[in-house]
Amino acid sequence: MIEIRDLHKSFGSQKVLNGVNMTIMDKEVVTIMGKSGCGKSVLIKHIIGLLRPDSGKVLIDGVDITVLDMKELDTVREKLGVLFQGGALFDSMTVFGNVAFQLKEKTKLSRGEVRDRVIQALEDVGLKGIGKKYPDELSGGMKKRVALARALITEPAIVLFDEPTTGLDPIITSSIHRLIMTTHEKYGYTAVVISHEVPGIFDITSRVAMLHKGEIVEYAPPDEIRNSSSPVVRQFITGSLEGPIESLD
Ligand SMILES: Nc1ncnc2c1ncn2[C@@H]1O[C@H](COP(=O)(O)OP(=O)(O)O)[C@@H](O)[C@H]1O
Ligand SMILES: [Mg+2]
Repeated sequence: MIEIRDLHKSFGSQKVLNGVNMTIMDKEVVTIMGKSGCGKSVLIKHIIGLLRPDSGKVLIDGVDITVLDMKELDTVREKLGVLFQGGALFDSMTVFGNVAFQLKEKTKLSRGEVRDRVIQALEDVGLKGIGKKYPDELSGGMKKRVALARALITEPAIVLFDEPTTGLDPIITSSIHRLIMTTHEKYGYTAVVISHEVPGIFDITSRVAMLHKGEIVEYAPPDEIRNSSSPVVRQFITGSLEGPIESLD
C-alpha cells in the first residue's frame, strides 16, 4: 500500500504540491490526471524517492521513504518498476540488453536464467523474438512495450507509469492500456498511471485522482469521475476552455 500524506513541495517560490493526500491499495490501478505542468511527475518522483518533500510523508508498506538514506531507499526501490515519461531506453543496447539490465546489475542469476526471464518478459508484452533489435529500429508503441518489459523483469510490487501513451496514436494507446491490464493480471502489481487519456484510461483504472493547484481535488472510481460535479474535473474531461483550469500557461 502507498500512502501519501499532506505532501508539500516548492521549487523556489513556485509551489507545486500543496498538501497532496492519497492512498493506493495493494494491487489497485489508479490514474492521476491533471493539466500539463501541474506536478504529476513531481508527485511520482516523490513516490520513488527521487525528490524529497518540503513536508509530508510517503509511506510504502508502512515505511516513510522521505526520511530514508540512499542505501535504505535502494532497498525500497527494489519493489518499484518505473516507466518514465519519454521511455528512456538505452539506445546503444539491444532490446535484450535493455530488458536484462536490472537482472544483471542487481541479481546473481546465471546467464541462462537471465535469458529465460528476458524472453518471458518480452513475450508478456507481446514482443516475442525482437531481442536483437536496437531501440532505433522500433516504433513508439514497441519502445513502450520494451520499457514495460524492462520494468517488469524484477517482478516489482509497484509499477509507476508516467504518461505511457503520450504521443501514440489511439489504436496503439488502446493496445498499451490492454497491456497494462494483462500484465497487471499476470504480475499482480499495484500501479499508478499518470495519463490524460480520457476516457480510455478509465477502463483499466479502479480510481482516478485529479491533481489541481497542488492538491487532489477528487479521487473516485471512473463512473463517479465521469459524472463529477467538480468544475475542475468536468472541465478537464471535456477539454473545455471555460472553467477553473487556466488554458494559457
Ligand atoms: N527539479 C525541478 N526544479 C525546478 N522546477 C521543477 C523541477 N521539476 C519540476 N519542476 C516544475 O514543477 C512543475 C510541475 O512539473 P511536472 O511535475 O513535471 O508537471 P507534469 O504535471 O506535466 O508532469 C513545472 O512547473 C516544472 O517546471
Ligand atoms: Mg510529467
